[in-house]
Amino acid sequence: MKINKTDKIYIAGHRGMVGSSIHRLLNQREYCNLLVKTRNELDLRNQEAVSHFISSEKPKAVIIAAAKVGGILANDQYPYQFLRDNLIIQDNLINSAFENGVEKLIFLGSSCIYPKFAKQPMSENSLLTGELEPTNQWYAIAKIAGVKQCEAIKKQFGCDYISLMPTNLYGPGDNFDLETSHVLPAMIRKFHDAKENNHAPVMLWGSGSPKREFLYVDDVADAVEFVLTRKLSSNLYNVGSGVDLSIKELAEKIQELIGHKGQIIWDADKPDGTPRKLMDVSKLKAEGWEYSVKLEDGVEQTYEWFRSNLEQIREVKFD
Ligand SMILES: NC(=O)c1ccc[n+]([C@@H]2O[C@H](COP(=O)([O-])OP(=O)(O)OC[C@H]3O[C@@H](n4cnc5c(N)ncnc54)[C@H](OP(=O)(O)O)[C@@H]3O)[C@@H](O)[C@H]2O)c1
Repeated sequence: MKINKTDKIYIAGHRGMVGSSIHRLLNQREYCNLLVKTRNELDLRNQEAVSHFISSEKPKAVIIAAAKVGGILANDQYPYQFLRDNLIIQDNLINSAFENGVEKLIFLGSSCIYPKFAKQPMSENSLLTGELEPTNQWYAIAKIAGVKQCEAIKKQFGCDYISLMPTNLYGPGDNFDLETSHVLPAMIRKFHDAKENNHAPVMLWGSGSPKREFLYVDDVADAVEFVLTRKLSSNLYNVGSGVDLSIKELAEKIQELIGHKGQIIWDADKPDGTPRKLMDVSKLKAEGWEYSVKLEDGVEQTYEWFRSNLEQIREVKFD
């Protein structure tokens, strides 16, 4: 199913980092029938409200960028919220879309759906071939259920419901709260604060040796638009750069960019997580999509955004 610029498209989670980037990009590319709702207007955990909303608006496409998202510590501390909120949000949206004849649906998950020791780079075929990383298994299990829900609907009813699994993302609108954020925005915050504090030492989690891949969020928005406007052959695609680096190398890049001159202390008592995570991005590449923003450029743009939005940057707390 190919979506046109005049078709009604609902973006769930349009105020989050990924959703706002998708919203911005589709607006810029002159999609003129975008539908959005804030959490206050529509709590996606409310089945009746979501069903009523989708049946009365009848969008042609739904993009699911709404989820309960957080880093290792938040996942570890709030397993039940990460499992249940995500299961409920995605089921409400996917099932309401299906029951109301939504023709195209894009479900965003994450690379944590793949096993902890999956062969690197991780291909879509490694799904359910081994044990998950324990710290974020709750989130991963919910996301795997969403992938399978879309796959079952496609298999049984032929609907064009596609799952995209982005690698670690960063960019404007990220969460910079040190308790709940991901590694890259946490580093930006720590190095920035330490620089302001006379180049105080910066304490970073783990050993610094795990290798990770990062993608600028606008590249994901570009991939979403690519998928929206094409009929692809499969139901599950990785979205990444296909390039990784160690956490230590990342820290040094960010430290240099920010101009912090102090010491870095590695706190080996904190968990490292999966030793290496790199996406095999050949499947979406074969369909014709590739990333474009280099890590150095993306980090620079993110830091610019962080500095110009210091008064209103997001600090996500969980309850
Ligand atoms: N960030 C990453 O590194 C990354 C990597 C790979 C994949 N992804 C995927 O991308 C998707 C979006 O992630 P993100 O980083 O953009 O997260 P985010 O910034 O936390 O945004 C999540 C969005 O979901 C909304 N939301 C959450 N619970 C809701 C509820 N009950 N009712 C209504 N809205 C609700 C939030 O609304 P509020 O604004 O009101 O809080 C927010 O707009 C997720 O599926 C995630 O798995 C993210």
